[in-house]
Amino acid sequence: VLQHLLQAFGGPGRTAFGFGPTYSMYPMLTRATGASYVAGTRGVEFTITPEDAATQIEEAKPDVTFLCSPNNPTGTPLGLDVIESVYAETEGIVIVDEAYQEFAPRDSRSALTLLPGRERLVVSRTMSKAFAFAGARVGYLAADPALIDALRLVRLPYHLSALTQAAAIAALRHAPAMLAMVDDIVAQRDRISATLDALGYEPFESWTNFVLFAGVDDPAATWQGLYDQGVLVRDVGLPRSLRVTAGTEDESTAFLDALASLGAGGAHAGTTARAQG
Ligand SMILES: Cc1ncc(COP(=O)(O)O)c(C=O)c1O
Repeated sequence: VLQHLLQAFGGPGRTAFGFGPTYSMYPMLTRATGASYVAGTRGVEFTITPEDAATQIEEAKPDVTFLCSPNNPTGTPLGLDVIESVYAETEGIVIVDEAYQEFAPRDSRSALTLLPGRERLVVSRTMSKAFAFAGARVGYLAADPALIDALRLVRLPYHLSALTQAAAIAALRHAPAMLAMVDDIVAQRDRISATLDALGYEPFESWTNFVLFAGVDDPAATWQGLYDQGVLVRDVGLPRSLRVTAGTEDESTAFLDALASLGAGGAHAGTTARAQG
């Protein structure tokens, strides 16, 4: 879906923009169309204020702006006021990527509520996360009919197979069953955050199904120390940080126990079994 949008609105001479750190595919998908990518910045604990967002957008003047809501890889919620501010400041397309929105609090408002009257706004989602249906490769978006027509101009005739569409329709019909795990995952996410805090780490607020946490003395050694105990987390390249995805209660417990066993601040180079050879 994001690639399709960039095929229509990216391309040589155009610029796409995102507030980093954010989803690592935005720059890659952008550059694949010959457009250039500009990385903006975030403030305290990866948040963005409407004022700062407007200033950065005014300077970058992007043709396409990505707003990841909530943000990957940090989990940070994004206020609708930031979306309004960015939209008002740019003359380009604004894509709100709600890949993880199903994990946000039930009473939080989707950017869908901002669509009326904003013909350059796009809200995209995927079945890969909350629907646990990544293998089907189904994403979707909502936008003004004129924008959808523009996408049709660059759409390949065979972009989504009939079988995939049938699977997606069946998944939608069974949405309550497909989404049944969401509440459990959210409970585990919050338990992981609380336990990380108690262990002396600094978990960042998350509205997704993962938790980014700082306070890791040696992320590479800690990643290895967890891996050696059968737990796979993500080192997303942020200083002193790792990202863990919430799973079942047993999986989350396995992660927390493994991390606790590494001691305060995690493993240190030379102290893991692998590093000791
Ligand atoms: C923020 C964000 N947007 C979009 C996607 C795309 O997911 P998919 O290509 O599986 O639909 C992902 C997947 O990791 C993501 O993290």
